Amino acid sequence: MGIDVVPVALGARSYEVRIGSGLIDRAGVEIAPLLRRKKAAIITDETVAAAHLARLVSALEAEGIVVSSLALPPGESTKGWAQFSRAVEWLLEQKIERRDMVIAFGGGVVGDLVGFASAVMRRGVRFVQIPTTLLAQVDSSVGGKTGINTAQGKNLVGAFHQPSLVLADIDVLATLPPRDLLAGYGEVVKYGLLGDAAFFDWLEAYGPALAAGDTAARHHAVKRSVEMKAGIVERDETEEGERALLNLGHTFCHALEKATGYSERLLHGEGVAIGCALAFELSQRLGLCSQEAPSRVRAHLRAMGMKVDLADIPGDLPEAEALVALMGQDKKVVDGRLRFILARGIGEAFVADDVPPDLVTALLAEGLRGR
Ligand code: GLY
Repeated sequence: MGIDVVPVALGARSYEVRIGSGLIDRAGVEIAPLLRRKKAAIITDETVAAAHLARLVSALEAEGIVVSSLALPPGESTKGWAQFSRAVEWLLEQKIERRDMVIAFGGGVVGDLVGFASAVMRRGVRFVQIPTTLLAQVDSSVGGKTGINTAQGKNLVGAFHQPSLVLADIDVLATLPPRDLLAGYGEVVKYGLLGDAAFFDWLEAYGPALAAGDTAARHHAVKRSVEMKAGIVERDETEEGERALLNLGHTFCHALEKATGYSERLLHGEGVAIGCALAFELSQRLGLCSQEAPSRVRAHLRAMGMKVDLADIPGDLPEAEALVALMGQDKKVVDGRLRFILARGIGEAFVADDVPPDLVTALLAEGLRGR
């Protein structure tokens, strides 16, 4: 299968996403050519550290790179001011300078926090993303969005800071709990739905094999997702337009995540999957697409054993009006209007700023009655 290289062409900030098996063991060989002196600092979380850190350190040391590492507690609550300042201060204590390299080794929480620490430390040091979850490989490690959560909401403080390299080792996906893998798959499906109908066809055919552990299917799905993300980021790095399509399903998702307290009741990728199903249903009700489109979305998510409906979220949810109010606090609100990503069919998403809130309330109320 070999290693695939997806370039992200952003002028002076260009970099490659390398995708394949065994990349952690090759990390020293991959990273050494980027270094101005042989020094790197890894920040990871305790779960990833227990499973994979020793291998990464050996791979770097084998190339003569001097490495230090810090493991933060796992989980979304790490992505706040406390662990952020701990990470920045630790990097300063390690005397990491602008000619050195920081390595973000973990899922989306680690990637976002370490990317932001790298963005502000000494006014910006270079960093490499080594994403260890499917969600981080196909979405958060690529494109340079970094940041942390505050009491006011998720990702409200951050910076655009592109990595110097992304290494997506397909083998680490084998160590993920099945629920986390499927949650990441929610973001994979999103790419087919937003812009590539043929990829969605492929996912309908090979998604079950991917979930069952087929490495070739995982490799292809990561590669195609990254190609799509790279293309969008190249055309719209700072989300002035097209990049917003990557938020398909996310307006619904963010409201549901807030309503469930960002807890184990609903993982982010699960919320994205439910949100995509709702966005297609909403598009059909607005007369934008045929009933076949939402039916196919739902059928595929069901076939994958994923959450599809509001009824699949355990525990109580607020009323429909309250959920719509939570959407109003989303940072994707522009001039007080709700922004949705809608679709004219599978693979044909677009940004809509003028969706009648009543229709959204009615759709959610119906979903809540189905519980
Ligand atoms: N995760 C959405 C974006 O990178 O724009």
